[in-house]
Amino acid sequence: MKSSLSYEQLNKAANEYGTPLYVYHAEKIVSQFQNLLSHFSSKHTRFFYACKALTNIHILDVVKRAGCNVDCSSINEAKLALHVGFAPENILYTSNSVSFEEICEAISLGIHVNIDSLSNLEKFGAKYGNTYPIGVRVRPNIMAGGNLKISTGHDKSKFGIPVTQLAELKAIQEKYHINIATLHIHTGSEIKDVAVFIQSADVFDTLLAQFPTVNVLDFGGGFKVPYKPDEKGTDIALLGSEVNKAMTRLSEKYGRPLTAWFEPGKYMVSECGYFIAQVTVLKKSGDIQFAGINTGLNHLIRPMFYDSYHHIDNISNPNAQMQPYAVVGNICETDTFAWDRPIPNIAEGDFLVFYNAGAYGYEMASNYNARYKPAQILFENDKTTLISRRDTFEDLLTLQIPIKK
Ligand code: LLP
Repeated sequence: MKSSLSYEQLNKAANEYGTPLYVYHAEKIVSQFQNLLSHFSSKHTRFFYACKALTNIHILDVVKRAGCNVDCSSINEAKLALHVGFAPENILYTSNSVSFEEICEAISLGIHVNIDSLSNLEKFGAKYGNTYPIGVRVRPNIMAGGNLKISTGHDKSKFGIPVTQLAELKAIQEKYHINIATLHIHTGSEIKDVAVFIQSADVFDTLLAQFPTVNVLDFGGGFKVPYKPDEKGTDIALLGSEVNKAMTRLSEKYGRPLTAWFEPGKYMVSECGYFIAQVTVLKKSGDIQFAGINTGLNHLIRPMFYDSYHHIDNISNPNAQMQPYAVVGNICETDTFAWDRPIPNIAEGDFLVFYNAGAYGYEMASNYNARYKPAQILFENDKTTLISRRDTFEDLLTLQIPIKK
């Protein structure tokens, strides 16, 4: 299965649909999922695509057709998944800091829910008792992840119920006879080190004796994918074999079958995505060669927000000599995509492509500076489909109440 798009396909898409443009490749999503399946025990593992990475319904449909489940971080994501046709039992809602009403709504939809506070667990117990199996998100006090902004398991993180509050957690569970079916840990995003996931298994090991109704251990998401050309992602084969071993050990130790759940976001969709922009202005300042493009932090905020690296190529002239560029956006902010970055020699009008644009790219886009959100297209079976159109001027006014004259 071909899992990357050619310069020719990207140039054709840019000419046909205009720029800035998000382009996704369905086959890459499927091959990522199949790679996961091939390395984990099929009977004892379930994968839920963390759709916060990219929620377009056509992407969700690709994920569903591939046979993957879906993990949501808001009630609306869960409703989108239902809209696409995911069965409720294949939808997981990992809530954080949400109102109890939202948890009740999720329960009324019949989906799996992970609760992440003692407060909501108490309210859940009082209302539902043992009538609905529930998951509990635990904060393991493990520092992991690509940078502090995307680390969620450490001892100052807002996420989950701190493991140090086990006694309170148990007291609530016993008071209402709550059927805790899942223990959940998500330590962060961009975790390369397989040992971090095994540390989570060790934390589960310290908890399992106290939770006899637990039959699912949810390890969250966070597998690292390569962003730089010479970078390595999480070793999925090693992760699969280590997790399989840990799950067998824990199932035997506690005398019950245990299933592992995972919630990969970036792993599923980061590499399927390409963001194409056009160079509007070249500007020289001393040694610095700026390449100004027709987009900015309103469309791809990761470089500015997390100092993330996105590889950039000049698809109009990929074989030209490399020159160092500062690639900058058109937003009235310092929206620098890359500094001193070697890119094949650029002329005004050239198309640049940003790789790894599938996860948290369009999904974190905004209309800042009253600019239009870009269009999104999907390549599947060598056919392209427009899956969301570019905004129009009318869209900028849609939600605004007209001025009375
Ligand atoms: N499960 C939970 C409970 C999560 O909080 C997340 C991500 C995931 C799964 C999926 O993590 P992934 O496999 O995508 O690393 N906007 C940031 C990433 C924020 C991640 C938030 N939670 C970025 O662009 O790097």
